[in-house]
Amino acid sequence: MVDLLGQHLKIKSELDLAISTTIASSVFIGGSAVEQFSERLQKLLNVNHVIGCANGTDALQLALMALDLPPDAEIIVPDFTFVAPAEVVALLGYKPVFTKVCNDTYHIQAAEIEKNITTNTRAIIVVHLFGQCADMQPILALAKKYNLYVIEDTAQSLGATCQWQDGSKHYAGTMGHIGTTSFFPTKNLGAMGDGGAVCTQDSHFATRIKTLANHGSVVKYSYQSVGINSRLDSLQAAILNVKLTYFDQYLANRKMAAAQYLQYLSNSELLKLPKERINTPSTFNQFTIQTPHRDALKKYLQTQGIPSMVYYPSLLSSQPAFQKWNNQSMGQTSQDLCQSVLSLPMHTELDQEQIAFICKNVLLGLEKLTKQKSDV
Ligand SMILES: Cc1ncc(COP(=O)(O)O)c(C=O)c1O
Repeated sequence: MVDLLGQHLKIKSELDLAISTTIASSVFIGGSAVEQFSERLQKLLNVNHVIGCANGTDALQLALMALDLPPDAEIIVPDFTFVAPAEVVALLGYKPVFTKVCNDTYHIQAAEIEKNITTNTRAIIVVHLFGQCADMQPILALAKKYNLYVIEDTAQSLGATCQWQDGSKHYAGTMGHIGTTSFFPTKNLGAMGDGGAVCTQDSHFATRIKTLANHGSVVKYSYQSVGINSRLDSLQAAILNVKLTYFDQYLANRKMAAAQYLQYLSNSELLKLPKERINTPSTFNQFTIQTPHRDALKKYLQTQGIPSMVYYPSLLSSQPAFQKWNNQSMGQTSQDLCQSVLSLPMHTELDQEQIAFICKNVLLGLEKLTKQKSDV
């Protein structure tokens, strides 16, 4: 699904130098690499504050803790996504309110969110899934109308943008109150281990998040609030500093791979291809198709040595961990997604030959499967 070694080998000497310099300095916690990385990411995203932390899940937890919500708070989360947003809501004792995503773009949208707003709703966690920004302007307008906080989870979409009606462009994670991201190795900007960051335009939240990530402490051994220990490791920051230089290239490679996939697969009636809204061009952290023959196609691709993954096989609201909060009768749309989505290999090192081979087999597989069905 990904070729991390291929990506690393191309910049091996720079990575080796960054790692050995960090080891020689013996500054393993904090230090200039972490500071430099935060500053560079801040500039890139055009945001006032970036605070590194241990991973994307902690980033979400810190964002929610910073809001200091009442215990009965309800938080809107997508029902179709990675578990982290709902997990941190539940861990902090709040109620996750699972919300149906759009069948085409995989994002929650203003109309569905509004159906789930109650007097206890305090925040919306928008996940910019698979590399593309959700349509943020209507969501921000809704949040304003109901006085809600907006957290943007950009774990899968660092570098993605959303163009507003006035023509201005905004990076994922910088439009709501707080944005979070992950540097898990397969993300758009991947570390060689875990890493994450929180960003915000608001200096009040920035100070709170810094404090919360440092055990709730501003002055050593004095604690303002109950916090956690969540730091971006210095070695990971040094590695990310190297990779950030190539970030534009990484995004361009993903985009090129996606364009080739779209070109090869565009004529099949048996496939639904990723849909990019004109104002939210995707960074293609994933290339996810939909087909009613998903399981059989996955098996067929496996026989040809082609990996594929199902992100995500079930709705979060249907998971045993979240039964307590499953008070929604979810519409069919999201359920159907879990049966039809299939993510094809997508990374920065894919070449045209590999994509042609994958697509040839996707089309051949579908042809065989439908022929088998019609023969029966
Ligand atoms: C949408 C989303 N949010 C949050 C996370 C959590 O990130 P991490 O694995 O760094 O904790 C992930 C990781 O896959 C994710 O995909």
